[in-house]
Amino acid sequence: MGFPGFATIVVALMIIDGPLLQRATTVDVVTSTKNVTLALNLSPEVPNGFSGYGQYHTLNTSSSAISVSVDWKNRAPIHLDIQPCNGTCIAKAIGPGVALSNCSSQTWEISRADVYDPNATWGLWRAYDSLHDAWRLPMMYTLLGYLAPNSPRRSEVAKLQVGVLHWDDPEDENMPNGTYVESTCYYVPAMLEYDLVVRGTEVTIPDHPDQGRVLQTANNSLSFSLDVPPDQVQPNTMDALSLYLNLFVNVNSSVLSAANPPPGQFWGLDPFPSSNSAQLAKYFDYTQVGGAIHLTDPTHDIVFALNELMFRAGVMSTNWTNLADLIDPGLSIKQTLQAEQTVTENVYRSDLRWFAGAAILEIIAVLFVLPLFWGWWTLDKVTLLSPFEVALAFDAPLLKEANSAQGVAAMVESEMGSTQVKWGAVPDRSNFYDTDSDGTQRNGNAAYRLGIAESQSVMTPHKGMRFDV
Ligand SMILES: *[C@@H]1O[C@H](CO)[C@@H](O)[C@H](O)[C@H]1NC(C)=O
Ligand SMILES: *[C@@H]1O[C@H](CO)[C@@H](O)[C@H](O)[C@H]1NC(C)=O
Ligand SMILES: *[C@@H]1O[C@H](CO)[C@@H](O)[C@H](O)[C@H]1NC(C)=O
Ligand SMILES: *[C@@H]1O[C@H](CO)[C@@H](O)[C@H](O)[C@H]1NC(C)=O
Ligand SMILES: *[C@@H]1O[C@H](CO)[C@@H](O)[C@H](O)[C@H]1NC(C)=O
Ligand SMILES: *[C@@H]1O[C@H](CO)[C@@H](O)[C@H](O)[C@H]1NC(C)=O
Ligand SMILES: *[C@@H]1O[C@H](CO)[C@@H](O)[C@H](O)[C@H]1NC(C)=O
Ligand SMILES: *[C@@H]1O[C@H](CO)[C@@H](O)[C@H](O)[C@H]1NC(C)=O
Ligand SMILES: *[C@@H]1O[C@H](CO)[C@@H](O)[C@H](O)[C@H]1NC(C)=O
Repeated sequence: MGFPGFATIVVALMIIDGPLLQRATTVDVVTSTKNVTLALNLSPEVPNGFSGYGQYHTLNTSSSAISVSVDWKNRAPIHLDIQPCNGTCIAKAIGPGVALSNCSSQTWEISRADVYDPNATWGLWRAYDSLHDAWRLPMMYTLLGYLAPNSPRRSEVAKLQVGVLHWDDPEDENMPNGTYVESTCYYVPAMLEYDLVVRGTEVTIPDHPDQGRVLQTANNSLSFSLDVPPDQVQPNTMDALSLYLNLFVNVNSSVLSAANPPPGQFWGLDPFPSSNSAQLAKYFDYTQVGGAIHLTDPTHDIVFALNELMFRAGVMSTNWTNLADLIDPGLSIKQTLQAEQTVTENVYRSDLRWFAGAAILEIIAVLFVLPLFWGWWTLDKVTLLSPFEVALAFDAPLLKEANSAQGVAAMVESEMGSTQVKWGAVPDRSNFYDTDSDGTQRNGNAAYRLGIAESQSVMTPHKGMRFDV
């Protein structure tokens, strides 16, 4: 055992270092932000004729418009022709969208008495429902239509009509007046500045109230000839997109009241809304109590969706070879964006306390091992303590013939390599002759000792064998 044994145990205990070093290093996430410049190609307008063409007031929709519409419905990722952004880039870019041209709106006040009166009217229509023997009045109405270019107005126009009903709980004696508001707004194609989020080449348009600021309206319907006979084709730019969007947003839902209601019965929700219940449910506030009807205005969502459709159309048409002829003169698809790039990276973090523990253990082990080498310089040229070197140094009989000056490797190769040696009982010739007390030699017993010798002269010891000492 002694000191070397103790040093060995200390070195074996170094295995504790592993867990300590593991705890000393953890993986962490750091986020860094810097300003970068990105080159982008994006058509700033939806090109003329993107939607197809109209003839006899019928739109023959282009495959491009269908593809953009289906991608929008499927929430397909939008890939820009942009220098890829590492991490996340936030940038402003100019793309196609719509600008509000003008709006008109009409408001009908609804008193508490109206809520109980089947003869009350608000909105633009009132209909008798013979199936339920009830009167219907509008609750939510949404229609996204379009106006084809018309003299003297050259541009295409998307026409959005929105009507929403609002009243509080009619069972509350002090219920304030409610309203039905119907507005009609006209939107024309335009160039908008979007706040974009770019990851790689994929872009998203975050929805926020200030999204899509109008820079200028597009005049890309200028190539239309306004006085063509109805059977001649007219290129159509954005109507296919608003017509498609209307399929998702169109609502005509009503409240109804029995024609001869029992006392105290008020207009109620149509239990079977005539159209697009999903869109109604999205804007109906189900948290209201009693007979209160609160609806939120879908205008922002519809305009946002129309802008996204137009943006997708711009992305798709950016690589059209004849694009320059189909958008307003002087516009370029090349844009340089100043982007704020956020990169999230994994980094290693060191906890120096655990590391110090591991380091101290290692230093202790080194301190135990170092003394073992004390005085190695006195060995002079003998730097190896291999069995061969030791055997040579002690002048072993087996190696008597070998040329020790050759070095171990050469010796094994040239002379001794093929010698088979074995550990076992070796005849001890020094004991073969006994010496009598008078000094004469006589035959003694064959004696053996344990040792290494050429294998043919080594015997395997067997039970009962004696070894004299
Ligand atoms: C990036 O640029 C904006 C102004 O353009 C500046 O306010 C901001 O500090 C810059 N950010 C970095 C990380 O340099
Ligand atoms: C629509 O346009 C396509 C391709 O231009 C044409 O093949 C098709 O006949 C047109 N459809 C109608 C109804 O005009
Ligand atoms: C993104 O990383 C690549 C390679 O690391 C580099 O060539 C490229 O310029 C980087 N792009 C930006 C916008 O930093
Ligand atoms: C709004 O614009 C539409 C289409 O351009 C037009 O028909 C309408 O008369 C305008 N309304 C007002 C109040 O200007
Ligand atoms: C409520 O509506 C009724 C009739 O519609 C009207 O006479 C009354 O002034 C309204 N009340 C308020 C506070 O506007
Ligand atoms: C509604 O009007 C009709 C005809 O004007 C009348 O007969 C009926 O009594 C009215 N109903 C109520 C509840 O006032
Ligand atoms: C469209 O025409 C209007 C008025 O003529 C002009 O102010 C606007 O800059 C034009 N838009 C484009 C994109 O050229
Ligand atoms: C909405 O539906 C009602 C029937 O429920 C109908 O009478 C009315 O004309 C429709 N409104 C519009 C603008 O189509
Ligand atoms: C535009 O790009 C799309 C796919 O990115 C490709 O299918 C189409 O052929 C390209 N068109 C032109 C004119 O390069």
